[in-house]
Amino acid sequence: MLIRTLPLRGLGEAEIAPLLAVLDGTERARAERFAFARNRIQFVAAHALTRATLAAIGGAPPAAWRFVPGPHGKPAALLGDRPSALSFNLSHTEGMVGVAAIAVPEAMLGFDLEPARRGVSERLARSVFRPEELAWLAALPPAERGFGAMRLWTLKEAFIKATGRGVGQGLSTFWFELPPPRLRLAPGVPGRPEEWLFDQRLLGGDVLGAVGLRCGDGAPPRLDWQGCDLPALRRELGGERASGARRGPGAD
Ligand SMILES: CC(C)(COP(=O)(O)OP(=O)(O)OC[C@H]1O[C@@H](n2cnc3c(N)ncnc32)[C@H](O)[C@@H]1OP(=O)(O)O)[C@@H](O)C(=O)NCCC(=O)NCCS
Repeated sequence: MLIRTLPLRGLGEAEIAPLLAVLDGTERARAERFAFARNRIQFVAAHALTRATLAAIGGAPPAAWRFVPGPHGKPAALLGDRPSALSFNLSHTEGMVGVAAIAVPEAMLGFDLEPARRGVSERLARSVFRPEELAWLAALPPAERGFGAMRLWTLKEAFIKATGRGVGQGLSTFWFELPPPRLRLAPGVPGRPEEWLFDQRLLGGDVLGAVGLRCGDGAPPRLDWQGCDLPALRRELGGERASGARRGPGAD
């Protein structure tokens, strides 16, 4: 599985604008609707990085992919009108975007990025964490609890993004043990936690990334975490398209 992240600190709209050339009409329309530049920058960068990553492992050019939302909004990648043989999940946060992708169709794959030092208030912690997780946090030295809470948060997000059901699936139906990250399911909740693989990284010193994949009974894949930068991404997307060249008719 390929997990790629792109730091955005210090990048403005002008630096990101060339990436728009590789997005399709739906994505460009969504990008235009953001009120704040930082959200637009994150969106454009995340979608361009996703296209480059799908192209790298799926063979088709970056602009060939289409994204179609599933029942709870989780997008799947299509080539033309056909579902592709790849699965992916992207995430944006302050200062970084990223994507996890694997050459397995319809995989339960979730990826999340969050600021590592954001912290979680006690009230919020009680509403999103299970008693087991609250006990683990309480046992940490006080100075480490904020970071510990973000470790749990990103793992929980990776799981609910992997199932695609979001918070609707109930945050009290599962919890995580650390370290290493292991999923646990509340009694009576269907599923086999041992089928799941989770991994987590501190990226660039201030962003936490977590990835989760249901591997079933197969061997867990190798996890290839790769950092990327904007010049490299632009080269990868191809000088012409990502340097601002206009798209031809029918390119959408
Ligand atoms: C999408 C969701 C699952 C995660 O949102 P988020 O962490 O704010 O945002 P991220 O940047 O990590 O992910 C957004 C991307 O996930 C994808 N996505 C959208 N719906 C999704 C879903 N149901 N499942 C998985 N991925 C989804 C999209 O690609 C989206 O980016 P895009 O709109 O640019 O295409 C959100 O709807 C949600 O439920 N958030 C829960 C927040 C919360 O209370 N978490 C508590 C955890 S302890």
